[in-house]
Amino acid sequence: MFSTQAQDFRDTVRDGGGFAPGFPPPPHPAAEPRLAFAAEHRPAVREPRLSIESLLIGDSVAMREVRHLVRQVARCDASVVITGPTGSGKEVIARAIHVESHRGAAPFVAVNTGAIPRDLLESELFGHEKGSFTGAISQRRGRFEEADTGTLFLDEIGDMPFDMQVKLLRVLEERTVQRVGGRGQIAVDARIVSATHRDIDAAIEEQRFRADLFYRLAVFPIDLPSLAERREDVPQLVRHFVAAANAKLSFNAAAMERMIAHDWPGNVRELRNVIDRATIIFAGQVVGAEQADMLLAPRGRRLAAGVGPAQRPESEGQRDARTLLNDLASRLGSELPETPAPLLGTEPVDLRTTVADLEHRYITEALRAADGVVAEAARLLSLQRTTLIEKMRKHGLKAA
Ligand SMILES: Nc1ncnc2c1ncn2[C@@H]1O[C@H](COP(=O)(O)OP(=O)(O)O)[C@@H](O)[C@H]1O
Ligand SMILES: [Mg+2]
Repeated sequence: MFSTQAQDFRDTVRDGGGFAPGFPPPPHPAAEPRLAFAAEHRPAVREPRLSIESLLIGDSVAMREVRHLVRQVARCDASVVITGPTGSGKEVIARAIHVESHRGAAPFVAVNTGAIPRDLLESELFGHEKGSFTGAISQRRGRFEEADTGTLFLDEIGDMPFDMQVKLLRVLEERTVQRVGGRGQIAVDARIVSATHRDIDAAIEEQRFRADLFYRLAVFPIDLPSLAERREDVPQLVRHFVAAANAKLSFNAAAMERMIAHDWPGNVRELRNVIDRATIIFAGQVVGAEQADMLLAPRGRRLAAGVGPAQRPESEGQRDARTLLNDLASRLGSELPETPAPLLGTEPVDLRTTVADLEHRYITEALRAADGVVAEAARLLSLQRTTLIEKMRKHGLKAA
């Protein structure tokens, strides 16, 4: 049970370091159907000879300033905390710091500390010795050890359980880790870059996050603006993602205006998703204002416009009933209120599977919208984080 879970959550680490001995290599992309949001990091970001320029698109004053900060901080080993809204590019910045630093050829190891259940997090970060707990069938190096001489990216630190914060602080102070069930101290030399979409100040005030840990992590803070605060980057990002998708597609001036005017609550990630959708729907075309409006419309209106899953056609009986009622209503001079289409036809339904399917779809969408940040996905679904993790386990879903 434990080892299966450990293997599952191993996948929450999105890239970078090799896989620990004893674990299978990552599957070939085509070999295992992965959820769409697992394709977060595309080959474009993995090309050899990465540079700040190829990773960070945008020439706004804000982005130029960020690039300058990245170059400065890459020269030293100071801990960096990147703050900014979901989808604003925190992980991209972490990678840029890594490739630009003297550690660039060593592993970049990313751990989403918010998405790993607390009972697994310690072993994930620090490793464990064989037999140290039920399920610890073999010795395993932790993420700290894997990131040795490289960079360890701790994502969503704002969601880290309090007791882990204490342990992490000790590791950062002593620069050694102790595996779960281990005796010796293992020296590690990893540069720590962390990120959070949360207001850490509030978390510190409410004593959910240790101030001493934050000061140690945030020797050098970088705050990323939302995309709406640097709209001038939109055209360049649009062209970048069109080119990255290898698509023949262009936006005319009116369409680009619509893109610039959009508020982008999901930031660069949302923009990339819109472009991905555009390359499928409008392949080979010039996107105009009307098409841009359709791409940017809220989900409901997109459905109404006929994009997205086909709606179940009305049966003849339903149509007859509706015409009749409309007829009646017009004769009575009133508007018929919108009644939802009946779910039950003449065939019996399997309620349990239907509801389970629906739950699966909602969770998948929420995780994608939240970029695999479980706490955020839980918020979107009005669930407790632990309840969502439980449901994800039930459905075999992974965070990122
Ligand atoms: N400045 C940028 N230039 C190019 N791509 C970017 C930029 N910022 C973000 N992205 C892309 O947007 C998506 C979300 O970025 P990510 O770093 O995962 O955001 P966050 O960690 O803040 O949620 C990724 O696909 C990333 O490659
Ligand atoms: Mg992220």
